[in-house]
Amino acid sequence: HAAEKGGYDHFMLKEIYEQPKVIRDTLLGRIGKDSTEVQLDGIRLDKETMEKINKVYIVACGTAYYAGSVGKMLLEAQARVPVVADVASEFRYRDPILDENTLMIVVSQSGETADTLAALRMAKKAGARVLGVVNVVGSTIAREADDVFYTCAGPEIAVASTKAYSAQLVAMYLLSMKIGQVLGKIGDEEFAVLRDALLELPEKVERVLENAHLVEDLARKNLHMKNVFYIGRGLDYAAAMEGALKIKEVAYLHAESYPAGELKHGPIALIEEGSLLMGLVGQEALLEKTISNIKEVKARGANVMAIAMEGNEEIRLAVDDAIFVPRTHPNFTTLLVNIPQQLFAYHIACGLGRDVDKPRNLAKSVTVE
Ligand code: G6P
Repeated sequence: HAAEKGGYDHFMLKEIYEQPKVIRDTLLGRIGKDSTEVQLDGIRLDKETMEKINKVYIVACGTAYYAGSVGKMLLEAQARVPVVADVASEFRYRDPILDENTLMIVVSQSGETADTLAALRMAKKAGARVLGVVNVVGSTIAREADDVFYTCAGPEIAVASTKAYSAQLVAMYLLSMKIGQVLGKIGDEEFAVLRDALLELPEKVERVLENAHLVEDLARKNLHMKNVFYIGRGLDYAAAMEGALKIKEVAYLHAESYPAGELKHGPIALIEEGSLLMGLVGQEALLEKTISNIKEVKARGANVMAIAMEGNEEIRLAVDDAIFVPRTHPNFTTLLVNIPQQLFAYHIACGLGRDVDKPRNLAKSVTVE
């Protein structure tokens, strides 16, 4: 077993370190340094097909849903189509508007999640087109979807998803670029900027991983916190949801994720000494607002940590501890901001003696409804 873990203590850590490769593999053959478009062979996202689509649903569970939430924001911003992201177990039991002008994107690492599969079947029955974003080749969702975008994360063994999530983010990045371009919403210049930024991500993830020891130190410092609140705006809020889920899953710690501006409408009542606030600031457009949210919490006795972009001195001054990640295009910050969150959850879990790769009560693939 030790050999399978490639010298790492756990599969989770091994899989965190595989992310530069996973991102490269998911980009490979789809976009390269001279590409003028995203190449998605066999996936029908041509102009004629896309012009008929008047809405998109992104449906998934767990971590895959959080990747879908990033997809929703980017697809709306880049392709100017309305997108609803929903968890499969909700979607399937309401009465969503599905017809032949609907595109449903289902996201699933295993391709076997029962609720996600049921949502897919419901959409197909109503005549919608279904695109699966799936990691396991030949899985049920991959077989039943009209088209499949394979994430190339390789087998993920740890129950808590890390590398599959990064691959799903890359899928969302490529799909939003593809659809945006097909619909004429992304011009050649903008495409080139996005392409270049995307191709730099693997190396930037490597740089984040080189600083992993700093995250480990902060995990040790915060080992005995009572609870943790992840906050962010826009794409950072999507990252916050994933950060809170990860620490719940592997460290069994009470964690919440909130849009930064919403904290004051309730959850701030829970903040006290012993709480940790994790402020995510990949998105700098509303920096001042988020800093004032952070200050409100600090004043109530919480320890405050931020994950922010390199060179953001304002945030450094506003918090107790900061972790910096390399700068990238604003569309792609989530992927980099999330890596320290994974490491933080991992090291807290190890410090608390949890069963990191096989957390209690959880299953890798949930085939019950
Ligand atoms: C389970 C796993 C999660 C995963 C979710 C969706 O709950 O423990 O890590 O995110 O299922 O799985 P899927 O295979 O559909 O991505």
